[in-house]
Amino acid sequence: MNALSITGLVKTYGDSVHALKGIDLDVLEGDFFALLGPNGAGKSTIIGIICSLVNKSAGSVQVFGHDIDVETEAAKASIGLVPQEFNFNVFEPVLPTLLNVAGYNGINRQVALKRAEYYLKKLDLWEKRRTPARQLSGGMKRRLMIARALIHEPRLLILDEPTAGVDLEIRRSMWDFFSELNKQHGTTIILTTHYLEEAEAMCRNVAIIDGGKIVEQGDVAQLLSRSMQETFVLDTRANPEQVPQLSPFVVRLLDQNRLEVDVPKGHTLNDMFHRLSDTGIEVTSLRNKTNRLEEFFMRLVNSQSEKLQ
Ligand SMILES: Nc1ncnc2c1ncn2[C@@H]1O[C@H](COP(=O)(O)OP(=O)(O)O)[C@@H](O)[C@H]1O
Ligand SMILES: [Mg+2]
Repeated sequence: MNALSITGLVKTYGDSVHALKGIDLDVLEGDFFALLGPNGAGKSTIIGIICSLVNKSAGSVQVFGHDIDVETEAAKASIGLVPQEFNFNVFEPVLPTLLNVAGYNGINRQVALKRAEYYLKKLDLWEKRRTPARQLSGGMKRRLMIARALIHEPRLLILDEPTAGVDLEIRRSMWDFFSELNKQHGTTIILTTHYLEEAEAMCRNVAIIDGGKIVEQGDVAQLLSRSMQETFVLDTRANPEQVPQLSPFVVRLLDQNRLEVDVPKGHTLNDMFHRLSDTGIEVTSLRNKTNRLEEFFMRLVNSQSEKLQ
């Protein structure tokens, strides 16, 4: 079953800000899924629409088979959201913050207390249960929002930039917590991030979003390995019957006199020419095929370093 199904999702803010230009996305139940993209890509807009906080311009969204336009409450009840911005009452202490949300969700007080204790201990906030939220550090505030999103034990947890402004050590412990939640409780998790290593550390599948469109989608490990290579298109004099197996180079036959070859980082074009000529294939010219993924990661890295400056 799909935890999330999005088809043809479009969002235009006002008349001219085309934040989403037609998004199709499926997330399987039990998946750990990353929406990866630079700032302004449209990640928070997608999250806002899934959670019925932002009105879409076109398209449809289903959460565990509940259409958000038709069965809005059922869809919302199955989601726990940790938004990008802090949005709790800063004067309220930690424990009452959780108990009030539990009460709002119709959870019995005894059950709510047990769950609050469990999640606050897990998230290293139990000692702070009587502290007003405004006295917490940035990382603690983020963890309070995570505990609050889990108090009704949703089947789908959505985290919008969960580790922004959190220092590295705590970030790693949060990664462990989310992985455990996904593996042991089977909670489907979707997170947005502009940190490649965050998607790599935790997630199984990823959609890369840029300028309101999905540019790549698939298995995290596969996408990363594809970004670690360059692809060349070669004109050749030979006319190979079969595609030569030249591992670690991956060769594809385009047509009679043209090959496409993936060259992993760390291997030279010279190596490739030698291997091809060993099989009797002579290269007459070559050009670099632009690699969308490579370009995307370059821009992602650049936009991160701009932010740090
Ligand atoms: N409330 C809003 N009104 C107008 N434009 C918005 C609003 N929210 C987001 N946008 C614009 O929509 C685009 C996508 O934003 P957002 O979804 O926040 O991206 P991300 O979360 O990937 O950084 C950006 O160009 C942003 O400026
Ligand atoms: Mg955002």
